Amino acid sequence: MDAAKNFLVAASILSADFSRIAEAVKLIESSRADWVHLDVMDGSFVPNLTFGPKMVSDVRPLTLLPLDVHLMIDRPDRIIPDFAKAGADHIIFHLEGNVHVNRIIHQIRELGPKAGISIVPSTPVALLSEVLDLVDVILIMTVNPGFGGQELIPECLEKVRTLDRLRSEQGYGYLISVDGGINRSTVAEVRSAGTDVLVTGSSFFRASNPAEEVRIFKGARPG
Ligand code: DX5
Ligand code: ZN
Repeated sequence: MDAAKNFLVAASILSADFSRIAEAVKLIESSRADWVHLDVMDGSFVPNLTFGPKMVSDVRPLTLLPLDVHLMIDRPDRIIPDFAKAGADHIIFHLEGNVHVNRIIHQIRELGPKAGISIVPSTPVALLSEVLDLVDVILIMTVNPGFGGQELIPECLEKVRTLDRLRSEQGYGYLISVDGGINRSTVAEVRSAGTDVLVTGSSFFRASNPAEEVRIFKGARPG
């Protein structure tokens, strides 16, 4: 099953050198990753700060690859229009801390981008039940968000198995994305749980050959 499925790789610029973002984006392209993942952090929802919509608008002309924007911020509804205008293709926000999740999903859709929802490791997957038919992407965090280079929490993959099963039983159309701690040792288990999109930060940018890393993530044998 692994060999037949076309896994998508989303490379996160969080682990790139922020003073050389254009080179990082070119490396993502030349390594044949599928999406550019942009981790937006506000120093409140998560204990780290990164960048806002300007990074998305600066990256936009550098590539035709989809820009996968992961908002780890409070009150995403206030700034989602700016990310849409900046050229985000997917806008993923967190369930946690948002009462009007249904409204935010529709807000994103009406602005144009695909809508995604994410949950942190301590949030049960059952809390997504009312939006499974509304979202394009579900991003399961396999580390506590805020930093690259952490270890994957394997228990989180049970949520991926559940979402994959519900998708085949009910015919939902979402893609399942997994974010945090994916590397050569963990990627096979992540794939077999039913994931479609593999987010990679440190394993991609620290690799001596990032293109080889992408091939391995997609299921090729190291060689
Ligand atoms: C973490 C971010 C991730 C991060 C993953 O809060 O959401 O996208 O870049 O980095 P690695 O692959 O190093 O765990
Ligand atoms: Zn992310």
